[in-house]
Amino acid sequence: MKSRSEIISDVLNYLHFFEKHFQYTLYKSETGRIYDEGEFDHDNSSSAEITNVNESSSNETDTLKVKDSVRQYSIVRESWMDCADFDSFENEIRNCQKCGQLSKARKQIVFGTGNPDADVVVVGEAPGADEDDQGKPFVGRAGKLLTDILKAINFSRDEVFICNILKCRPPENRNPLPEEIANCEPYLFKQLEMVKPKLILALGAFAAQTLLKTKEPLGRLRGKFHEYKGVKMMVTYHPAALLRNPNWKRPTWEDVQLFRKEYDKLINE
Ligand code: URA
Ligand code: URA
Repeated sequence: MKSRSEIISDVLNYLHFFEKHFQYTLYKSETGRIYDEGEFDHDNSSSAEITNVNESSSNETDTLKVKDSVRQYSIVRESWMDCADFDSFENEIRNCQKCGQLSKARKQIVFGTGNPDADVVVVGEAPGADEDDQGKPFVGRAGKLLTDILKAINFSRDEVFICNILKCRPPENRNPLPEEIANCEPYLFKQLEMVKPKLILALGAFAAQTLLKTKEPLGRLRGKFHEYKGVKMMVTYHPAALLRNPNWKRPTWEDVQLFRKEYDKLINE
């Protein structure tokens, strides 16, 4: 028989899955209360007055900001969500057990490194063996190439923030599974919320597709600016892909030149 904690964990996982995969939309009111679709009438206007029928003690009216509908709001409140700095945030998730296989296989999580106030966030896919050993992103062969690419456009690793979609290494460096991305992406979304970068550089298909919620192939996403929650984002090849296919170096070079140009424009505005 399942233990109480296993049952609770299964229910929480189910809710998480339900929200991600069926895009179950929750709405957050001005008072911070969370409602779901069935609890009020809305007509696609930007806000709706709703009477909070669940609160028997008062019949106050709550203003619902429909345009602030919180798609990515996790149904289950978790303690990391309220962290105000990266040290406490990393500490809260270092024992994350959401992905059974990854949490058993990892040496440590790879939270991300660099400037927590950076103007630029670089997002990769997942840690490899070197990253798992050192607890830092992009420190292996692909990482050295990333460091050089950044240097070529006048960024040091210390001035940007570097992280990944997955905080744990997939065994044998296999591709991240959709459930693993669903489990882990809320951490990345919070990191981006905290850093508030001016620009994002997404490396490879997993980073781009996760942030843009698209299945478009990398070839069609790269080389132009997209938007992630109002932040401009460039997509380019993953440095590991460049090591396998040197033909992609030239387009990558062009992409990062555009990226730097946009950065210079934004900071001089
Ligand atoms: N590849 C990635 O996507 N991230 C790393 O941190 C290292 C290699
Ligand atoms: N295809 C990918 O998925 N990623 C790359 O970086 C290049 C091609």
